Amino acid sequence: MRSSTTSSSGYRRLYADSLEDPETFWLRAAESVDWSKPPQRALDDSAAPTYRWFPDGELNITVSALDRHLEAGRAQKPALIYDSAMTGQRRTYTYAELTEEVERTAGMLAQCGVGRGDRVIIYLPMIPQAPIAMLACARLGAVHSVVFGGFAAREIATRIDDAQPKVLLTASGGIEPSRRVEYLPAVAEALKLAEHAVADVVVLEREGFSTRLGDLSAEPEISSRWHDWQDLLSRAPRAGAVTVAATDPLYILYTSGTTGKPKGVWRDQGGTAVALAWSISAIFDIGPGETILTASDVGWVVGHSYIVYAPLLAGATTVLYEGKPVGTPDAGAFWRLVQEHRIKTLFTAPTALRAIRRADPHARLVEDYDLSELCYLFAAGERLDPETQRWAAQALKVPVVDNWWQTETGWPICANPVGIEELPIKEGSATLPAAGYDVRVLDPLGQELPAGREGNLAIKLPMPPGTLAGLWGSEQQFIDSYLSAFEGYYSTGDSGYIDEDGYVFVMGRTDDIINIAGHRLSTGQMEAALAKHPAVAECAVIGLTDELKGQRAAGYVVLKSGDAPDHDELRHQLRELVRQTIGAVADFKDVAVVEALPKTRSGKILRKTMRQIAAGEDYRIPSTIEDASVIEAITPVLRP
Ligand code: COA
Ligand code: AMP
Repeated sequence: MRSSTTSSSGYRRLYADSLEDPETFWLRAAESVDWSKPPQRALDDSAAPTYRWFPDGELNITVSALDRHLEAGRAQKPALIYDSAMTGQRRTYTYAELTEEVERTAGMLAQCGVGRGDRVIIYLPMIPQAPIAMLACARLGAVHSVVFGGFAAREIATRIDDAQPKVLLTASGGIEPSRRVEYLPAVAEALKLAEHAVADVVVLEREGFSTRLGDLSAEPEISSRWHDWQDLLSRAPRAGAVTVAATDPLYILYTSGTTGKPKGVWRDQGGTAVALAWSISAIFDIGPGETILTASDVGWVVGHSYIVYAPLLAGATTVLYEGKPVGTPDAGAFWRLVQEHRIKTLFTAPTALRAIRRADPHARLVEDYDLSELCYLFAAGERLDPETQRWAAQALKVPVVDNWWQTETGWPICANPVGIEELPIKEGSATLPAAGYDVRVLDPLGQELPAGREGNLAIKLPMPPGTLAGLWGSEQQFIDSYLSAFEGYYSTGDSGYIDEDGYVFVMGRTDDIINIAGHRLSTGQMEAALAKHPAVAECAVIGLTDELKGQRAAGYVVLKSGDAPDHDELRHQLRELVRQTIGAVADFKDVAVVEALPKTRSGKILRKTMRQIAAGEDYRIPSTIEDASVIEAITPVLRP
């Protein structure tokens, strides 16, 4: 069943070409995309260290994702399969149907005044309108910014103020196994919190949720016009693709940085189209007519790339799954999807595999399904621990491919390029760098470290097409955040090593970003939420190891002197504060009141030492510590 070719030189030759002659390599890759004006140049380095790809090319990414498949006789082939374990709904959109939906939704946006370069925020659950809305924006040359449904009102407001959208697209609600999530109260609150006024809010009514557009329109603090999606859509003409420059923005996706404010990663239309068209085939081994299930959320980068754009660029079928890996109804959910939709490549997060393993340790549910079409299981979003990798490989009898990447890169930095050549798997490693990524390990001074030595994982500039073009509205923040730590390199913020065969092992972050269930969150942002409580004098949030979710956040708070509130009630309030400020997705449950936090004499909280104590690792008390007895007092709290 497996179709990848096995050759001894395929990948390494190709990788060398991509670094030695990127111009030829990427111009050739660009031939797999339909252009209105094909590029004559690949890389524009005139403003290094900021780079642009295909500077003279013009296109619209949706032409390659939709129209050209109609012209190639694929109009009646399935493009998108929506499968909801939450409602039991299934619906297949052919390429013709998906194109029509996208064109009508684009028409609806155009009627709201959205045009090339305008921003649109999309706050939707995992329903077909989410990818359709993304593609509709792209079709107009507008810029979408999807906000994950698990984020709270304040996070939506931050994104509204940064992206300054004309329109916000949302639905009346999302469905979680434990509850129904009403979206409109969060949207209304976000509109009140934001300084920027969104002109139009379009609401898709979902059965079982209250919409009350009349009440919302009457809210005095909100100036936006509220519209019913279906009503607006019914009057919308179909909109054709607007040709844009390859360097025009396709989308902004906000991600956690080390500060309280999320970073707006943006990428372009042309480079993204080329990189995703290349990687879906070379890495994920998906071609026309084949089916991929990326069990993520469209709110994350994995969803943008491998639920929406890449499979459609390939003329493949993508499965949009609304449900969880376990509990909807059981740990066989993915295997049902594989059988029912004849999935070739399944892509998920290690957390999901751990959750399945916990519920079904002997993989008995696998036996209930025909998985003969499945060729690969891909995992990304966090480190894939060897035990989980082994378990999944034994259970499914397919290669389990760890791949390492970030919101910023948009596609894998490292992976096993099974579409070109299946390389031997080394447990714990994301295998080798993908085309165009020159990955190095640097010491704190920027000197390259030899094989086997752990250090900062950095990528020599320029990075390949499809990676971030910048941070929205802030060139300087882009340079400060990624390009200034090591001159000539993009700093990933990850730590790891490269072995003697060139295999890359990613070990963890070097900053205060933590990864909870494959979701990237900032401890600094959680601290800022806790600090808002009137009883809290100071606080620290650190990431602890969690068997299921990889990491979980734990907060330690010192109360203002004289404040002696009931600790149980306080802990409840603090959990709620993080939930209300950041969202349920932070899953913030552990919080303890402590007498003092370990600090240096200059007042810097020793979070790393706290982390080491909590993890039971060796640690050294810095000579600059203010009061060493604090360490003794806090140790039993950190390691109960
Ligand atoms: N909208 C609203 N709330 C959401 C949400 C969404 N889209 N996604 C998650 N949440 C909420 C959950 O309802 C839960 O709220 P609760 O505290 O009221 O129960 C909270 O956020 C934490 O949810 P989750 O992270 O899903 O944890 P869980 O314990 O419910 O489930 C797993 C555990 C492992 C099954 C789940 O985390 C999972 O499927 N992980 C895979 C994640 C993934 O695919 N990441 C890919 C990134 S590449
Ligand atoms: P995000 O931007 O949300 O995709 O998160 C990116 C971060 O997740 C990376 O910087 C890594 O810390 C982590 N990550 C993603 N994939 C992997 C992987 N395969 N192995 C180890 N860490 C990973």
